[in-house]
Amino acid sequence: MDEKILADTARRMVAPGRGLLAADESTGTIKKRFDSISVENTEENRRAYRDLLFTTVGAEDYVSGVILFEETLFQSSADGTPFPKLLASRDIIPGIKVDKGAKPLVACPGETVTEGLDGLRERLEKYREAGARFAKWRAVITIGENMPSDCAIDVNAHALARYAALCQEANITPIVEPEVLMDGDNSNEVCEAVTTRVLEATFAALRLQRVLLEGMVLKPNMVLPGKNCPQQVDVQTVAAATVRTLRRCVPAAVPGIAFLSGGQSDELATQHLDAMNKMEGAPWSLTFSYGRALQAPALKAWAGQSGNAEAAQKAYFHRAKLNGLAATGRYSEAMEEAA
Ligand code: 13P
Repeated sequence: MDEKILADTARRMVAPGRGLLAADESTGTIKKRFDSISVENTEENRRAYRDLLFTTVGAEDYVSGVILFEETLFQSSADGTPFPKLLASRDIIPGIKVDKGAKPLVACPGETVTEGLDGLRERLEKYREAGARFAKWRAVITIGENMPSDCAIDVNAHALARYAALCQEANITPIVEPEVLMDGDNSNEVCEAVTTRVLEATFAALRLQRVLLEGMVLKPNMVLPGKNCPQQVDVQTVAAATVRTLRRCVPAAVPGIAFLSGGQSDELATQHLDAMNKMEGAPWSLTFSYGRALQAPALKAWAGQSGNAEAAQKAYFHRAKLNGLAATGRYSEAMEEAA
């Protein structure tokens, strides 16, 4: 384990004004995205779509790294350049999702534990050789009646820490992602309390398993009311609650926090990030690691037609740029119309 390599990668991932593109949808998840635009989920369509994103000129000014699905790590651009090589040549760090998905948790109905630790040490070696310099593992926490259980929080924290330690052994910087879902009807206060429990357990497990905090990136949810909660709150409230919660739970040794978008609209995800960066009090870099909120307009513009590639790239560039500006608190809503 080389502490300098791990910390350098982490710092580059969250460099001022840059963030991550999460393009690591599994074959099942990308099917849902393609279904929404009536595109067939073939290997070539998946390749062509990712090719379009990765060759967008200028995106590298705002995107420091891309999280890939395993299939994509071994695919190539139309001109034959392997994707990791293409990204690295444009100063975009290739990363890899290494978990095997959230599976039902025994004795905890409605809850999951993320699997994928068996054989991970060997897989990481293979991924590093293919060019991956950071990794992602997503734990999923559901809010509901008697949920989350202590059991679900604890087993997921344990697995996140086991994964992070193995990544660091392989000189791959881990993204630690404990996602509290925003699908319920709970209030913002409940989300804050649950996010606090989850982050406390996660950092306790990371400490116990001797994970180097300087050599990781945290990918949390923002503190939001559930999407079915009648009491929605304004941008300032979300930003203040999120920064307060993170300050209480995340050591300052962690170089950066890259949020997931989790089902927020693309514009709201940008506004929330911007509001946090306009506030005082964050000792870490606060940036984005968005999937849906970076890709939704591009996916719609593409619609599976190669003739639409340019329009799709424009849409992706626009969101990348606005999120890059939000990552330093320089975004304004007027910029949305300028497009
Ligand atoms: P969303 O931004 O669409 O939530 O995806 C980010 C991600 O990588 C979830 O693991």
